[in-house]
Parts: sequence; structure tokens; C-alpha cells
Amino acid sequence: MAIVKKLFVWSLGLAGVATLLLLGGVLFNGTVSAMTSAHAKPKLDPTQQRADRLIVEGRKVFRSDTFGDEAVWGGVLGLNKAIEGAKFGGVGAGISPKQALAVGLKVDATAIPKKVAAAIKAGKVNLDDPAVTLTLLKLNAVVGVKGFFARDGSLSSVGITCAVCHSTVDDSFAPGIGKRLDGWPNQDLNVGAIVASAPNLKPLEDSLHADEATVKKVLLSWGPGKFDAELDLDGKAFRPDGKPAATRIPSAFGKDGQNLHTWEGGWGTVTYWNAFVANLEMHGTGNFYDPRLDNKTKYPLAAAARFGHTHPYVGQGVLPVPDQASGQPDRVTEALRSLDLYQRSLPVPTPPKGSFDPAAAARGKIVFNGQGTCASCHMGSIGTEPGYNAHTPAEICTDAFQADRGPDGTYVTAPLQALFTRSKRGFYHDGRFATLLDVVNHYDSCFDLGLSVQQKSDLVQYLKSR
Ligand code: HEC
Ligand code: HEC
Repeated sequence: MAIVKKLFVWSLGLAGVATLLLLGGVLFNGTVSAMTSAHAKPKLDPTQQRADRLIVEGRKVFRSDTFGDEAVWGGVLGLNKAIEGAKFGGVGAGISPKQALAVGLKVDATAIPKKVAAAIKAGKVNLDDPAVTLTLLKLNAVVGVKGFFARDGSLSSVGITCAVCHSTVDDSFAPGIGKRLDGWPNQDLNVGAIVASAPNLKPLEDSLHADEATVKKVLLSWGPGKFDAELDLDGKAFRPDGKPAATRIPSAFGKDGQNLHTWEGGWGTVTYWNAFVANLEMHGTGNFYDPRLDNKTKYPLAAAARFGHTHPYVGQGVLPVPDQASGQPDRVTEALRSLDLYQRSLPVPTPPKGSFDPAAAARGKIVFNGQGTCASCHMGSIGTEPGYNAHTPAEICTDAFQADRGPDGTYVTAPLQALFTRSKRGFYHDGRFATLLDVVNHYDSCFDLGLSVQQKSDLVQYLKSR
């Protein structure tokens, strides 16, 4: 305190009121030690500054960067034409806001001007009119979908961002319309139905060696909240039991401290998968390197298209990029750093009050750590093992189909944070267990745990509380 007082008197004498104000600010921020002279600006911690900058950048990338993928979603598949409809120069009837909401697209209420919002509330906006969809796109209000408009106002192209699958909204304005919730999986998004509505499926037919009807059948088999990220590598559209091969869209929060990601073990960390998705799924313009994709037996489509050696100048594998000959800059590589930090910084949401019974959850925690042996794999707050966090299918008594589509035939120990954000489409990679009790029953028989009815129900309450 004595030093502070001395500084105080000294600075008052030196520069008067302005310095006093500055010092006040510095004291308030608790960074007295950072002040070398009364005139110097307080030094911000460079690490903190960098983190702040990367997070702001990463949020922008996550929400709005298409990495140039509009060349494919608009340019090749023609989704922009389907959205605007024949009336505005596209094809077909166009996509109304109601139809867009029905396939699970979400609207960012904060991007809608007050007047327009009031008009929607008053029922004065025709949500059956595709023109309104175009307005929403112009306002950048459709989460994860970016419209590109020509001078004459027509929708010249459309691209997607990470947010289309990995964000939802809080429904605070209306169902499907509200504030963004980044990292929450969009459990309503029907990616397959959206792609199937594209006017030109020819490139997909060519790459999958299938006719239009088959391609549509595959796309429509996925259903809401699911997507098949390995289809364009191995062409396996259905499981051996005939069920769709798509997996649930996972959450993108709570990744800090975890090694492996994705359902299948062996792909890599957040940044590996981000580069993979931006290049090979979204079909952005970038570099991607993974010689494991040269394995012709395992990944025939990826090997043929040289997915493991993707360059902006050569094209993005299967889907032809119209202006590949002209050469394009790498839009992915430099974005990875901020994108990684942003996802790793996303907070894990807390389960809403009343969504579980706290007393039962406390008892369930004891089962989780004890007789249930759950904590032998789902460790600590990260909910997965430090180290190589994956297991063989046999270890968890499941089939190997999806595990074998990944590099090492394992399943990643799924983190168990905020399950309430992703319980609409079942549990496990393909949603095979409809409820948490089904999951618990599965483990009870797999590990021969001998859990009582009470213990099982307590365990379910604990899982809901995490
Ligand atoms: C079309 C929907 C879709 C888009 C777009 C998409 N993802 Fe995903 N994402 C998925 C699906 C499905 C998986 C699971 C894939 C698997 O495990 O086989 C996944 C997995 C992930 C994972 C691993 C999560 C975990 O817990 O295992 C992360 C992280 C991720 N995506 C981030 C991103 C980022 C960043 C982008 C943008 C560059 C992006 N995703 C674009 C659907 C999507
Ligand atoms: C041997 C390691 C291991 C043990 C022990 C284990 N799990 Fe798991 N758990 C996994 C793996 C791996 C997955 C991912 C399976 C998949 O997606 O197919 C998983 C997935 C889950 C899921 C689904 C999460 C989601 O998002 O779909 C829940 C819930 C779960 N485990 C709860 C438990 C409970 C409760 C116990 C104790 C009774 C337990 N686990 C014991 C490895 C384990």
C-alpha cells in the first residue's frame, strides 16, 4: 500500500488530474505492477492479448468462413438456384423460411433489424415466401449459410460454414429463431435432405458410382442431426444391417484437454479434423495432407481422388471446382490456429435446473466412480482418458462397422459433458441407444456390473447432471 501511496503523490505532482485518472484505471484493473512510469500505458499480458485476438478471429471463422466452398455448394450443386426459385432466376419453387426451418436451419435473431423482427412478430412477414429467405440471407441471419449476391440482387452462390452443423439457437424469438449457441450440435439439421434438394447431383453420382435415385436414397436415409463424414472416403452408405451409416453431429465445445476427437479413433485432434472437414467435407479451398487416405482398400474413393494430397490448385478431390485451373489461394491453413483455440475455449453449458434430480445425481456419481466402473474410461471433467482415448469395439461390446471406417478400428471415449445438448437423436455414434437408461443397461450387461434398478436410475440422473 505504501508504494501505491508514494506513486499516487508522485504522479499527482507530476501530471495532475489526467495521471490520477490513469492511475485510477490501473488500480481498478489490479495491474499496478505493470506500470513502469506514470505516463506509460498499462502493459497487457501478451499471452492474454493473443488469446483474445485468436478467439475473436476464431469465432468469425467458425460462424462465417466458407473457405471458398461456395464454389461447390452453389457453383457445382446449384443450391443457390434451389433457394431462390424460378421466380428470381433459379429453379423450382424456391425455399421459404418455413421450409428452411423445417430442414433444421436456424435463424440468428440478433441479425434481424428491430423493425423486421417486429413485423415477423406481428405476423406481417410471409414466412412461406422464398423472397423472405433471400432477405434473411442478405442479413447474414441464416446460421452457417452464407449467401453471395450479384449486383442485380440475385443469389449468385451459397456456401456453408462450421456453424451450420455445430451451432444452434436458443429459440428465444420463435422455434428455430434466437441467439446463437456455438458448439451445440444442430440436432434438427437434415443435411441429407438439404443436399438432396440440389438441382445438380451429378458430381455426387459420379464420385459414389451410383445413379441419382441411389444417391437420393442414401442422403435421405440420414435424417435430422446426422451426417456421414466418411461416405466420400469409403463409399459405404449403409451398415451391414441395412441401417444408415451416418453418425450424430457431435458438440464442438468442451474439447480442451482431450486428445482424440470424432467418433472413430485415430483421425487426430481438433485441428486435424478441422482441416479435414474444411477441405474434404465442406469442399473449401486449401491444403490437406494425410497419406493414410491413399489406402485403396480402406478408402477407395479418397485414394482415387487423392484426398490425402489436396491443394488449392489441384482441386478438392471428387467435386470439380470450376476455376481450379486459374489457381486459388489456400483459405484453410491460416484459419486453423484461431479456429482451434475458439473451439477449445467454448464454455460447456450447464444442464438447466430441474432437468435432473440433484440427490439422485449425487448417489449416481458414486456408482459412476465405483461399481459402474465408468470413471475407468470417462475420467475427470474431460470425460475421456488423458492419452490415447480410444477403445476396441469389443471392449464396449459393440460392432466394429463405424470404428473400422476410422484409421485404427477403435471408438473414442465420448466426453460426457452437457449431454442435454445432444440427447435428441439417441446416444453412441449412431444414436443406437434411445435413452441414457438404455446406455446404462448396455454397460450393465457388457461389464456384468450387477447394478440394481435404483443404481441405474441414479446413474442416469448423474449423467444428466454432468
Ligand atoms: C455437414 C455438417 C458438418 C459441418 C459443416 C462440420 N461438421 Fe464437424 N462434425 C460433423 C460430424 C457428423 C462429425 C462426426 C464425424 C465422425 O466422427 O465421423 C463432426 C465432428 C467434429 C468434431 C469432433 C467432435 C467430437 O467430439 O468428436 C469437431 C471438433 C468438429 N466437427 C468441428 C468442425 C469445424 C470446426 C467445422 C468447420 C470447419 C465443422 N466441424 C464442420 C458435422 C459437421
Ligand atoms: C472401456 C471404456 C469405457 C467404459 C468403462 C465406459 N465407457 Fe462409456 N463410452 C466409451 C466409448 C468408447 C464410447 C463411445 C461409443 C460410441 O460412440 O459408439 C462411450 C460412450 C458413452 C456414452 C454416450 C455418449 C454420447 O454422446 O452418445 C455414455 C452416456 C456413456 N458412455 C456412459 C458410460 C457409463 C454410464 C459408464 C459406466 C456404466 C461407461 N460409459 C463406461 C467407453 C467406455
